[in-house]
Amino acid sequence: MATRKSLLDLTNISVPTHVAIIMDGNGRWAKQRGLPRQAGHRAGVENLRRVIDACVEFGIKILTIYAFSTENWGRPESEVRGLMRIFSRVLDQELNELHEQGVCLHHLGDLGGINASLQEKVLNALELTKDNDRLILNVAFNYGGRAEILHAVSEMLADNVSPTELNEQIFSSYLFTHGLPDPDLVIRTSGELRVSNFLIWQAAYAEFYPAPEYWPDFGREELFQALVAFSGRDRRFGLLSED
Ligand code: IPE
Ligand code: IPE
Ligand code: MG
Repeated sequence: MATRKSLLDLTNISVPTHVAIIMDGNGRWAKQRGLPRQAGHRAGVENLRRVIDACVEFGIKILTIYAFSTENWGRPESEVRGLMRIFSRVLDQELNELHEQGVCLHHLGDLGGINASLQEKVLNALELTKDNDRLILNVAFNYGGRAEILHAVSEMLADNVSPTELNEQIFSSYLFTHGLPDPDLVIRTSGELRVSNFLIWQAAYAEFYPAPEYWPDFGREELFQALVAFSGRDRRFGLLSED
């Protein structure tokens, strides 16, 4: 039987266009239960399904998730291998449903660094969903903000962008997020207060929301609470408050 959804009142909520999430705490979630870290990663992926559904329900247009950082390669090989297996399985199992739901997948990061069969699955998923427009889902995978900036600079040099014409708009057009608005809200689960190399250019004026829950426990109601907090923020962008 489907669980009944509680009614959440969105009337006074200003829903951000672009929400970005640092999905953190899978390992601690598992440890708390005496389970291996891999069980936490599996629970994390299951949770993603709930959060995607909630984003669609709340009318969020762009969701960016931090799934695997350039630094995460330094974890034990068994954990890295386990994570790659999970990502590959998710693409096999969830792609059709995501497509039917109208999700358009984008990848942020360096695909070249991952194994050929996973690369092929990702490219296939991007191609299949490219015309969908209900929710843009950016998956930051083998992503690092510094690597992204270096990549942009190197492409600009290759294109002979002149130092006098360079501006923020041109620079942004060389980032993996080109064509998309910057995130309005960055959520980090598990109570950590760090950016950990995530969207370091794009999040310049994002509102930051640390959620205490570990990622597998951060669901629809917790996302709603983040939107409530966001609605109460006074975004000044360096100017003076309107009141
Ligand atoms: C986030 O959970 C998932 C990835 C970084 C891939 P962690 O694996 O970082 O979980 P903790 O922070 O150790 O609890
Ligand atoms: C950030 O989490 C990366 C992802 C969520 C994919 P980490 O767990 O890797 O970050 P640190 O090590 O706590 O900064
Ligand atoms: Mg972590």
